[in-house]
This record gives sequence, structure tokens and C-alpha cells, in this order.
Amino acid sequence: MIEELEKLRREISDFKAKSSEEIEQFRIKFLGRQGVFKDLSANFRTVANEQKKEVGIKLNELKNLVQNKIEDFSLSSDSPSGESSAEDFTRSSGGIELGSRHPVSLIRREILDIFSRIGFSISEGPEIEDDWHVFEALNFPPEHPARDMQDTFFIEKDPDMMLRTHTSSVQSRVMKNTPPPIRTVSPGRVFRNEAISSRSHCIFHQIEGLYIDKDVSFADLKQTLSYFTKEFFGKTEIRLRPSYFPFTEPSAEMDVYWGLETETDYRITKGTGWLEILGCGMVDPNVLANCGIDSNEYSGFAFGMGIERIAMLKYQIDDIRVLFENDVRVLNQFKGA
Ligand code: DAH
Repeated sequence: MIEELEKLRREISDFKAKSSEEIEQFRIKFLGRQGVFKDLSANFRTVANEQKKEVGIKLNELKNLVQNKIEDFSLSSDSPSGESSAEDFTRSSGGIELGSRHPVSLIRREILDIFSRIGFSISEGPEIEDDWHVFEALNFPPEHPARDMQDTFFIEKDPDMMLRTHTSSVQSRVMKNTPPPIRTVSPGRVFRNEAISSRSHCIFHQIEGLYIDKDVSFADLKQTLSYFTKEFFGKTEIRLRPSYFPFTEPSAEMDVYWGLETETDYRITKGTGWLEILGCGMVDPNVLANCGIDSNEYSGFAFGMGIERIAMLKYQIDDIRVLFENDVRVLNQFKGA
């Protein structure tokens, strides 16, 4: 009997459970109704009296050993630092993590929704574009200094091809391919060869707007932008400051009166209360002509805005790089938005 107990001790000590099923089988084998210990207790009667004490002690030790094995297993599978990699199928699941929309997608969708309510369709164009659509059609002649306003990534193999620097390239495509009236917004990714900092990135997103019809005037432009500002920011006061873009004449920058109520308002508006939101203007007759539209019959307006800039304002993000890193601690804050 003593020898048998020694053998069992080795078996128990060497046992390593890999799953909760295995440990359960182990328990049943030793402690179950018809388990090893049941047999051993039954045989205990036959042990010689002088050996009873020793065998009794050994039996108890073995039982404890089995119990400790079972406890150790359940402790190690409950604690993440436990050595055992066994899965415990009795544990509740952690629940399914839901993702969230990216702030840039949220703003993009909101802006497109606002314009679609007043009859603007959505159009898109390629990110790798030719010189004609990005610059030439839009009144940037070759060697024109205005090309320096946008540092361009060129495609090495073909000097005529580049990554578009603005979504205005979609304007040229739409005008070339669609007869007026045209009323469209074009969202997309744009690229500029600029150093990355908290304020600027070499990749960002824009939304371009274009409206071409008979008798479109600057008043229509102002009214459309004023509607957008009210819907998007909930603000009613805008101002148009004279500016310059090769493809619009006259050109303007639109500012929104943000207010000066909080310390943040002072900081982001540099103490003026006004925030610059977008560039706009009346489509230059040269651009219409380049794209095959008769400028005596038709006129139109265009505007363009950066989505990241607007997302940063709306969500009070002060470093543009946050929008490109996809840190879940940031993205989680937009859950349900
Ligand atoms: N394309 C300009 C830029 O990227 C933005 C812009 C300004 C677009 C005026 C327009 C516009 O359509 O009319 O800086």
C-alpha cells in the first residue's frame, strides 16, 4: 500500500491541467464517488495495524495535494498574471467593444448633409491628378507664382501628374463633364509638401462647393454660406474679407463671429471674436471658358474649406496630428456621435 501511495503522489505532483475540463477529470478521478480515494479508504481496513498510522497520514497528505492542485488551477486561471493559459469557459465575456466614427468623418458627413438639404449633389475626383485639373484649368498658368501658394508633391515618373493640392481640381472635372446648372459639393483628401506641425499636416481633407447657373450672383454666395454657418455652427454673423485665388474673381475669405465669452474664445480668435473658416469667390470667367462653359450665359460661385480645421474648432482639438494617430483614447470620446 505504501508503495502504491508513493506512485500516486508522483502522479499527482506531476499533473498539469491545460484546461478546466482536464482539472475536472482530475478531480473526479481522485475525489469522485468512485474515485481513487474511495478505493483507498475501502482498502484501508486491510492494512496491518502497525502500518495504519503511517498510511493514514500519507492518505491525508495525498488528499490535500489533490485539493491544492485544484485550487491552484482555479486561482491561476482567474488572475491574468497566472501562468496557466487555460481558458475558463465559465467566465462571463467582456462584452463587444463598439467602434466610433472618426471626427473627420463626422464633420464631413455633417457638412455634406447641410448642403444636400439645399440641393447640392456630391461629386468626387481622383487624388492623383494632372496639372490641367489641379492648376491650369483653374487659371494658374505655368510658372505663375500663385502655384507656390500650394507646395506640391509631384509624381517622379511623370512631371504632369501630382497629388492634388486642393479639391478645387474636382471643380474642373465637373465643369468639363457636366453642362450647367451645376450644384455640387466635393469632399476629399488633399496633399501638400509641408512640414508636419500641430497646425498643419501634409495630408488633410477639404470640401469644395460649386454652383453654376444663369444669373448667379455674389449675393447667392453670401446667402448660401450664411445658411451653412447657421446650420453648422449655430452662429448668424459672417463677414467676407477681400482675398485672392486665381480661380475666383472677386475672391474672399469668410469669417464667422464666434464670440468672446470664454477664455478659449479669446485664444482661438486671437482676441478678435472672428474665426476664418473658408475661401470663396465668383468663378473666374477664364475658368468657365477653360472648362467649356459660356461665361456670357453662365456665372457661378465656389468655396473650399478644410475639414480638419473645422473639426479642431468644433471639438476644441489643438493639435492636428491627433486626427491622424487613431489613438483609441481619443476616438472613444466620439462614441455615439
Ligand atoms: N482651393 C483653395 C485652397 O485650397 C480653397 C478655395 C478657395 C476653394 C476659394 C474655392 C474657392 O473653391 O473659391 O486653399
